[in-house]
Amino acid sequence: MLVSFGVRLILYQHLHIVLIILSFVGHGDARVTSTFVRSEWPSTDIPLENEAFAIPKGHNAPQQVHITQGDYDGKAVIISWVTTAEPGPSKVQYGASKDNSEFTAEGTVTNYTFYNYKSGYIHHCLVDGLEYNTKYYYKIGVGDSSREFWFQTPPKIDPDASYTFGVIGDLGQTFNSLSTLEHYMQSGGQTVLYVGDLSYADRYTYNDVGIRWDSWGRFIERSTAYQPWIWSAGNHEIEYMPNMGEVLPFKSYLQRFSTPHTASNSSNPLWYAVRRASAHIIVLSSYSPFVKYTPQWMWLREELKKVDREKTPWLIILMHMPIYSSNLAHYMEGESMRAVFESWFVCFKVDLIFAGHVHAYERSYRISNIHYNVSSGDRYPVPDKSAPVYITVGDGGNQEGLAGRFWDPQPDYSAFREASYGHSTLEIRNRTHAFYHWNRNDDGKKVKTDSVVFYNQYWASNLHRRRGLQKSHCKL
Ligand SMILES: [Fe+2]
Repeated sequence: MLVSFGVRLILYQHLHIVLIILSFVGHGDARVTSTFVRSEWPSTDIPLENEAFAIPKGHNAPQQVHITQGDYDGKAVIISWVTTAEPGPSKVQYGASKDNSEFTAEGTVTNYTFYNYKSGYIHHCLVDGLEYNTKYYYKIGVGDSSREFWFQTPPKIDPDASYTFGVIGDLGQTFNSLSTLEHYMQSGGQTVLYVGDLSYADRYTYNDVGIRWDSWGRFIERSTAYQPWIWSAGNHEIEYMPNMGEVLPFKSYLQRFSTPHTASNSSNPLWYAVRRASAHIIVLSSYSPFVKYTPQWMWLREELKKVDREKTPWLIILMHMPIYSSNLAHYMEGESMRAVFESWFVCFKVDLIFAGHVHAYERSYRISNIHYNVSSGDRYPVPDKSAPVYITVGDGGNQEGLAGRFWDPQPDYSAFREASYGHSTLEIRNRTHAFYHWNRNDDGKKVKTDSVVFYNQYWASNLHRRRGLQKSHCKL
C-alpha cells in the first residue's frame, strides 16, 4: 500500500506536494491565504437564447433531465424530467443493454405555478431493484422526441469500495458556472455532492423566476442526466416572495428536485441520508428548524446511531451554511447550527463536512469549539483529532460573484483559503485513505490547487479510539 500511495502522490500532487506535507504537520505556519489572481467571466447570467440552455428538438421532448440516488444503499435512482406541451407518459424504459430496454418503470407527473408562471409537466420516476456496478441505459419520451441516456450504478456497500465524488456549490448559470461544470465533467467524478444554492432564479422577479429554473435544468442536464447529484438546499431555494404572493418556502426546489428522504426515515425531503460505496452521506437543511426536539434534530440523532463505520467508513455531511469560515461574507451565520450539532460531529468522528454559501474556497484543520458552555470553558476553537474537516465550496460561479475579503490575519483554524471559482473532488481509495483536491477554474483550465490526503477518522484511528466509537458513548 505504501508503494502505491507514493506513486499516487507523485502523480497527483505536482507542485503542491509541499502543501500536503504541511497539512500533515497540522497547525503553525502552514496556513495559506492564496492571493492568486486570474481573469474571469463577468458575473452575469448566460442569455436565455444561448446554446448552453438549448431546448431539445421534437414535440414535447423531455428536457431538464436529472437523476439522483433513489434509495438508502444505491440500488435505485429517481429519474426526473420536464415536458412542456403536454404531460405525456411518465414512463422510463431501461435495461443493461443499449438496444434492449427490457424494463419499464412508471412515475408521477405534477406541475405548479409561481406568480403567473406555469411550470411544465414535472416527472419523477423511481427506478429500483438495480444491480450494483452496472451501466444502465434509459429512454424517456415518445417517438421521434424520445431521448436516451445512461448511468452507472455504484459498487455495493463495502468498506474498501473506491469511489470519486465531486463537490459543487452555489453554481448558478453564468459562464463561470459553465466553466465549473465542464471542469467537473472532466474530473472522473462519479456522483456530485451538491451543497445548495442551485439556479439563483430568485434573483429574478415575477415569471422570470420559473423561466430561470427551467434554463438551469437544461444547463445542468449535460451532467445530471448521466450521474446522480445528491441535493441539499440553500437560501436561494427558499424563495419567500410575498410581494409576488409566493410565501411557501422551497416551492420550486421541492417540485423539481426529488430526494430519497423516506428511505432514511426522514419526514422531509430537505434532510436525509444515503449510503454509497464506502460513504455514509448525511444531508442537512441549514434553513429548516434544527434546534433540540425539532424533526430535523430528532432525525439526525437517529441517523447518527445508524452509521456503521465497519460498512461505510467515510462519514460525510452536507449543509449549505458553513460552520467554520473566515470569510467576511456571511461571517458566523453558521454559529447557531454549530452550537447545536458540533459536539455530535466530534463525538461521532465525522470525516468531512462540506458547505457552500460563501462564494470562495476554504478548508479548515481538524478543530472544535465544544468546551464553552456559556457558564465556563474555553471559547475558541482548538485542535481536535476527533473533529471533522470543514470545507467551503461555495465557488461554483453564480451571478453574485466572488467573496474576496477574508479575516486578516488568517485564523488558526483555517488551513487554506482562496477566492476563486472551482469545485472539489474526493477520491475515496479504501477504508483508510482518500485523495482530495480543490480544482480552481484557472483561465479556462482546471488546476488542482489545494491537495490533501485524508485519513479516515475511524479506520485510520488506533484500536482504542475505534473501540470508543463502537461503544457509542456519545450523548444524544
Ligand atoms: Fe447561499
